[in-house]
Amino acid sequence: MSTRNRQMHFGLLMTANGSHFGGWRLPQADPAASFRLQHYVEMTREAERGCFDLVFMADTLALVPTQLPATLGHAPPIAHLEPLTLLSALSAVTTHIGLAGSATTTYNHPYQVARLFASLDHLSGGRAGWNLITSGNPAEAWNFGFERHPDHADRYDRAREFAEVVFGLWDSWTDDAFVFDKARGQYFEPARMRAPNHQGKHFRVKGPLNMARPPQGRPVVAQAGSSEAGRALAAATADIVFTAQQNLKGARDFYADMKARTAACGRDPASIAVLPGVAPIIGDTDAEAQRRYQALQDAFDPLIGLDALSAEFGIDLSAYPLDAPLPEDLPTSPRATSRGDLMLEQMRA
Ligand SMILES: Cc1cc2nc3c(=O)[nH]c(=O)nc-3n(C[C@H](O)[C@H](O)[C@H](O)COP(=O)(O)O)c2cc1C
Repeated sequence: MSTRNRQMHFGLLMTANGSHFGGWRLPQADPAASFRLQHYVEMTREAERGCFDLVFMADTLALVPTQLPATLGHAPPIAHLEPLTLLSALSAVTTHIGLAGSATTTYNHPYQVARLFASLDHLSGGRAGWNLITSGNPAEAWNFGFERHPDHADRYDRAREFAEVVFGLWDSWTDDAFVFDKARGQYFEPARMRAPNHQGKHFRVKGPLNMARPPQGRPVVAQAGSSEAGRALAAATADIVFTAQQNLKGARDFYADMKARTAACGRDPASIAVLPGVAPIIGDTDAEAQRRYQALQDAFDPLIGLDALSAEFGIDLSAYPLDAPLPEDLPTSPRATSRGDLMLEQMRA
């Protein structure tokens, strides 16, 4: 999986019933597909047939908490299979398509993450991709013994060192370190081992990784940060940047900024690909596409949307009239990610 040329790259964000909140309630939808391997096999094979570069599985380590009690159980909470487990199964039934999944640097340890993606890279013959996230869902903290979700800056401080350790572990061996020389009884050449012996602020990791060097050397690294810290980390470490942009100007500005930051890190700007997200609703005619869109909207309870926005803002928005502009003096609470700013900007536009 390479990002080093200027052709267009396509990635498929795999969700069971599409990314619209009304998708699972459409008559033709199978809500249980989230937990069925065959559903993802068919989707991934279709994407491979369509020459997509990768399929991508997002992740969170907790249900997204509902802000409005009335919506509990009504919204399609982010409940799905664990990405690496699913992607490993998909590696056995595909040959070319990249297999990327999210793994958080906030609630994981770099040795485990390095091992998981190196294993997927071996299993898939060099098609693994790690979407480095710092966790946008604050509720994850409660599943890992934390009182509260660490602050944005602290999460990115840890993420930077985390990435450094994972890269060091992936570089633990030269490509030819494992000689498997039965005659000499030599399994690997110690001289070709490069244990990271990392001693840092957040981690102390001796290494090496207990596995031969991944076929790609370093699996592809993706990120989706759009804050200052997110962009800086991506420019220094990522091959792919996913981004949510609302208009062409914003997308172009983001693209130019990422290329400039990558060059400023001493990297070739062509070594990073910027992939904006789109949620296409397709029909044979515009009318049919509009009809499908309306069916999704009709299947969607606005209260679920209000709940999702409240979760993003960390405040209960149900106190405000749905059809009135958002009050200028909206109480702001610390948000987990910069996503809320983007939404606020859009709602005020
Ligand atoms: C395409 C895409 C995929 C993402 N996948 C995840 C994910 O799997 N888990 C997660 O917690 N956040 C995910 N995010 C959120 C980002 O990691 C990030 O938190 C968000 O874009 C805000 O940027 P910031 O962290 O720099 O504030 C995703 C964002 C985008 C655009």
